[in-house]
Amino acid sequence: MKIVKIISEIENLRKSFAGTIGFIPTMGYLHEGHLSLVKLAQKENALVFVSIFVNPKQFSPNEDLQSYPRDTDRDIALLEQVNVDVLFLPTPTEMYPEGFETEVSLSNLPQRLEGAVRPGHFTGVATVLTKLFHIVQPTAAYFGQKDAQQVAVVKKMVKDLNFPIKIIVGETIREADGLAMSSINVFLSPAERKEASVLYQSLSLAEKMFKDGETDTEKIKTEMTKLIEAKSGMIDYISFANEQLDEVAEVKNGTLVSLAVRFGKTRLIDNIVIK
Ligand code: PAJ
Repeated sequence: MKIVKIISEIENLRKSFAGTIGFIPTMGYLHEGHLSLVKLAQKENALVFVSIFVNPKQFSPNEDLQSYPRDTDRDIALLEQVNVDVLFLPTPTEMYPEGFETEVSLSNLPQRLEGAVRPGHFTGVATVLTKLFHIVQPTAAYFGQKDAQQVAVVKKMVKDLNFPIKIIVGETIREADGLAMSSINVFLSPAERKEASVLYQSLSLAEKMFKDGETDTEKIKTEMTKLIEAKSGMIDYISFANEQLDEVAEVKNGTLVSLAVRFGKTRLIDNIVIK
């Protein structure tokens, strides 16, 4: 695997290669969720590029950028094991040199769900992805359904700004007890880790209630809330939304059920699309 830290080197690599490139942007501390996207990309492209960059612009001042988990040596070993071709590993000053001042922001989509709780987050995401897409110029970029609103934001940005890039979405990879894999699960205490499986249990309950004929989101939300509050989870939101992420009062096929729950200092998100 080639490890590249300098933007111009990636640009040169890109210019010298005419085939398809699949790209997986990440913030590192990799797990099976990230690696599943690598596998998807390998099936569909001649080369696979991964980036690891803990993007300061998507953390709010009250969120801890410094303590975001990092283990670059382990990440490199994992990516080598699965035969990734190129790892782009820029420093913050390589990405944002002094004087950097441009932002890419969406006006509507970020106003709900995660964006409402984390102001500025999706501007940070859209800005870094714009920059990464221009540098790597991939044929296709791969994102996890785990971050459903991020997927919606990226798809909208790519459409609005005519990026010539296919956006491919991979399914959420889960631990044996249903907890969605996430780099920050490492912050859960053993007791919290056990309780955290309640997120997926509550999403599964929503789906079961729908299958049993219930479509009233308030009634489903009440049952999900009971389940989560029986544990130590503090609910930020439980949402039922359509593809545009507008809240809906009635569940139907295709409704996105998403939630954010805090266990101690660790804030977890998860979702399912009702089928
Ligand atoms: P990060 O959290 O590292 O996630 C990188 C990619 O892996 C995202 O597309 C995310 O949705 C996906 N992913 C994470 N957990 C997953 C799981 N359990 N199953 C499937 N896919 C999963 O998301 C980011 O980084 C950043 O916001 C980024 C897009 C890199 C921009 O900085």
